[in-house]
Amino acid sequence: MLRHVPDLLVPGTRPAGPPAPRQGQHGHVGEPVSRLDGALKVRGAARFAAEVPLERLLYAAIVHSTIARGRIAALETAAAEAAPGVALVMTYRNAPRMKAPEAFGEGDGVAGSNLPVMQDDSIHWNGEVVAVVLAETQEQADHAAGLVSATYESATATTDFAAAQTGARGPGQVVGEPAMVASGDAEIALAESEHRVDRTYSTPPLNHNAIELHAATVDWVGGSLVVHDATQMITGTAGALAHVFGLRPDQVRVLSPFVGGGFGGKTLWSHQILAAAAAKLARRPVRLVLSRAGVYRLVGGRTPTVQRVALGANRDGQLAALIHTGVAAMTAHNNCPEQFTFPARHLYAARTLRLEQKVADMDMLANSWMRAPGESIGTFALESAIDELAYEMKIDPIELRRRWEPQRDPTSRSAFSSRHLIEAYADGASRFGWERRDPTPGRRRDGEWLVGMGVATATYPYYRMPGVKARLRLDAYGHLTVSTAGHEMGMGTATVQAQHAADRLGLPLEQVSFAYGDSLLPAGAMAGGSSQTAGTVAAVTAASVALVEKVLKLAGNDSPLAGLRPDDVVACDGGLAHARDPSRHESYTSILRRARRDSVEVEQAGSIPLEQMKYSMHSTGAQFAEVGVNAVTGEVRVRRFLGSFDCGRILNPRTAASQFRGGIVMGIGLALSEHTLLDPRNGRIANPSLAEYHVPVHLDVPEIEVMWTDIPDPQAPLGARGIGEIGITGTAAAIANAVFNATGKRVRHLPITLDKLL
Ligand code: MOS
Repeated sequence: MLRHVPDLLVPGTRPAGPPAPRQGQHGHVGEPVSRLDGALKVRGAARFAAEVPLERLLYAAIVHSTIARGRIAALETAAAEAAPGVALVMTYRNAPRMKAPEAFGEGDGVAGSNLPVMQDDSIHWNGEVVAVVLAETQEQADHAAGLVSATYESATATTDFAAAQTGARGPGQVVGEPAMVASGDAEIALAESEHRVDRTYSTPPLNHNAIELHAATVDWVGGSLVVHDATQMITGTAGALAHVFGLRPDQVRVLSPFVGGGFGGKTLWSHQILAAAAAKLARRPVRLVLSRAGVYRLVGGRTPTVQRVALGANRDGQLAALIHTGVAAMTAHNNCPEQFTFPARHLYAARTLRLEQKVADMDMLANSWMRAPGESIGTFALESAIDELAYEMKIDPIELRRRWEPQRDPTSRSAFSSRHLIEAYADGASRFGWERRDPTPGRRRDGEWLVGMGVATATYPYYRMPGVKARLRLDAYGHLTVSTAGHEMGMGTATVQAQHAADRLGLPLEQVSFAYGDSLLPAGAMAGGSSQTAGTVAAVTAASVALVEKVLKLAGNDSPLAGLRPDDVVACDGGLAHARDPSRHESYTSILRRARRDSVEVEQAGSIPLEQMKYSMHSTGAQFAEVGVNAVTGEVRVRRFLGSFDCGRILNPRTAASQFRGGIVMGIGLALSEHTLLDPRNGRIANPSLAEYHVPVHLDVPEIEVMWTDIPDPQAPLGARGIGEIGITGTAAAIANAVFNATGKRVRHLPITLDKLL
């Protein structure tokens, strides 16, 4: 099963690694294996960060600031301290001294913001923590938190995005790329174009709503810090906590065996730091579980944007000008200028381009990563505008995109490693029944419902992070343990990695364990940027090369493998065999027993991810929506949805389908209902609950079909490009385009609520 793609992926070098299993052998990669952690979850036996039992545990409750900017004038804690069960109240006055964490984009920073945590009386956003109450029970802590009273000296704060835009600035860089990319004079080309659209779109701020609340259970053990955390960045979180508390890296251990959804929000925020600081002060272990509202106040979400997309096309349909510019909100204490212009950098062959984004600083909680940051909201604007142009030109929107399909990356000029967007469109269109769409809006009706179809492109880059390591330990019973500090957030990491390792070493799946979720393990891939699978696979591949070498040495001269070099053998049937003479086979068990070894162990880092420097590597897809818009109430219902993806090879169709569907469900929320309401008077989030912030529920989600090209990317480990985020991209535009097709009304400002359709 591993034979179709190179094993080690440094462009320009010969593929290396243990050769693929023998032809005809049944492989696990590509099989719809059920999640190995599924039974634990169903039985309630998977223990999450908020559930770890510890002796003498104290429970924390938080008091949030109620102003956006200024300082604490007075803080009354005596009543809380005297309340039943209270151990202590921590404020800036008694908090341990700590260094500020580094934010994303600064060195190795993994924190949401670089503000010092509780080190002085200053306030930087509405909701910042002003006190942590520790008590013997959660109820006692919650009660006492209500007894803390704070008064403030407010300073003038920028809490209105519209007002903030007057001071918009260039962010310098956007995720390591220039904030402005131009080629030719796009404004002139636009003005001279036969057909053009020039529109403004907007997207609202959004908040994270993973079902598992953010939580940390923290203990200091002999000067070392142990944190049971819900994180998608174990290795980085451990390093950052060591920095904040002035500890050696080996004095911090972060454990995170199960995470109930991450989506970019389960990183290092102030609550883990506060829990560790409070535990230090109390000399007792502490559990800090954020309330749902606490997640809104302390964990940053998606930034609002205003985006201009202008497109100019010639009579022949060629794209003469592509302009995508706009502003995102940010703060002075983080570095997440959400990369909404990135889709336009890689998708279409434009003769001239101008792509530029700015940031407007606000006094708010630092914004952060949220599933496909940039691509999710950038595709809403770009793909809506393309639909608008196609309508103006009276051309099918899929045909328009087909004409714009580039031969090379339009901005980097690099070759694509693999790109099959047009196939994904063709497959999806035929499966969805696109030919049944009436291009004239408002003509299809089903009772009270106006029915329409829309389509949009999905896209997400391929990333592979350097420095990911894996340890392989093979024991004398032929059992393999793969160890790396990776993450299982419910997407199937452990399952897919076990499938890969089993094939890599010719073992049955039951003979492979995947250990992860512990910072003591070799440095793992973060579960972000849809990159964990590629990074982990590359490390396991490199380690398996080393393991085969070591096993061959142990086999020695009395083995049927005597004299063979690593390149001569394949791993199969629980051992190694001569690649061209399968009769020369010896099992791992036999080799290790003869060598009198209990086990053999190697640790290796994955190859340097040069492939992403040499090639333009992006996944793409075609999203198809059919919606009904109620002619009386304006209510929008997604009736059918289909995503057709080109993400390289799919390693496990069962877990992959779930990832794609989950992304699309989140895209339905982005399109139709999710919206964080910031009170412009004081910057306070007014709807911090699932009752008032509407994520899609079952009745909002129709049948979602997903399909994929399954064409391996020759430059990606195992041919797979990552699938965690692409599902949300293009979804909102497909729905908006379907709403237009149903009603003739173009909604350019998310979410598409009924008031915008009446
Ligand atoms: Mo993703 S927003 O990189 O978890």
